[in-house]
Amino acid sequence: MSVARQISDSSARREAADLLRSGELVAFPTETVYGLGADATNETAVARIFEVKGRPRFNPLISHVPSTEAAFALGQADARAEVIAETFWPGPLTLVLKRTAACPIAWLTSAGLDSVALRVPGFSVARDLLSEVGRPIAAPSANRSGRISPTTAAHVALELGDRIPLILDGGPCDVGLESTVLDLSGATARLLRPGGVNRSEIEALIGPIELAQAGDTITAPGMLASHYAPDAALRLNATTCQMGEVFLDFGSTLSGEAEADLSSSSDLMEAAANLFALLRALDRPGVTRIAVAPIHLHGDPESGLAAAINDRLRRAAAPRG
Ligand code: TXA
Ligand code: MG
Repeated sequence: MSVARQISDSSARREAADLLRSGELVAFPTETVYGLGADATNETAVARIFEVKGRPRFNPLISHVPSTEAAFALGQADARAEVIAETFWPGPLTLVLKRTAACPIAWLTSAGLDSVALRVPGFSVARDLLSEVGRPIAAPSANRSGRISPTTAAHVALELGDRIPLILDGGPCDVGLESTVLDLSGATARLLRPGGVNRSEIEALIGPIELAQAGDTITAPGMLASHYAPDAALRLNATTCQMGEVFLDFGSTLSGEAEADLSSSSDLMEAAANLFALLRALDRPGVTRIAVAPIHLHGDPESGLAAAINDRLRRAAAPRG
């Protein structure tokens, strides 16, 4: 069982960088969720990610770098990418770009695609780690495939503690949802996954973007029908708590009867940060059904962060394959 060490401890960070450079896996915090990191240029190290997660191979991974400059050495930036990076990096946004001729990212990392997914994380000690490694780090969320993404080091230890040599602990993640994935590898900008940065904020900068349809691109893990799945069944948009259910509220709609509230003040940032941890807490042995209150921004379930939270909830509620 690996013991979590503080990412702010420079000797732990140095050890993590050495492990990563030698092809080992290290879990580390970002502002979105904890990542299961491997050297993105080392196919064997990346293969280990899939093995440890039990993740289907066709899913391309995000490579993390400490700066926009490092990102644009790996992916071809146009004017759209530059303005997006200028505005949202470091932060919870991933850009999919055509790989540069000199890009050393392993093909397994991009699942054979000629595009690469790149992110400069907002959490500064994570960037310190990336600078210390000096190579792009591929990192999906640090959970077993199809399970809830971890937002604390303790979640990672439960999921993967017996399978990886080191977990870096940076406390609970601020955002609590994976990054927004924006595909700028073609002429039309496409939103592949909603996340911490809203569609409207992006459109304000580069004009209208398309929403990717499930099935019209390579299968992304965020697009698999049942990816964010607790063991218990979920009932969404619940306004009452039925027999045999535990209730996950939003905005104190069922005061007294609810077991937990994503945000009693209907704050979507707070709800996003709590989402995976509360699903995990309610998904305990003996609980077979979790009812979840409607999540919305002033009544609109597709507005702002409500869209990303509802996307995750729909996947968690989808029939299991
Ligand atoms: O917040 C996050 O993004 C977290 C933290 C650890 O940074 N990472 C994460 O990685 O969620 P992952 O591997 O679970 O998500 C990768 C997403 C998927 O939706 C995947 O399909 C998409 O990025 N993606 C990666 N490379 C792509 C590519 N070349 N073309 C299209 N989509 C790509
Ligand atoms: Mg994941």
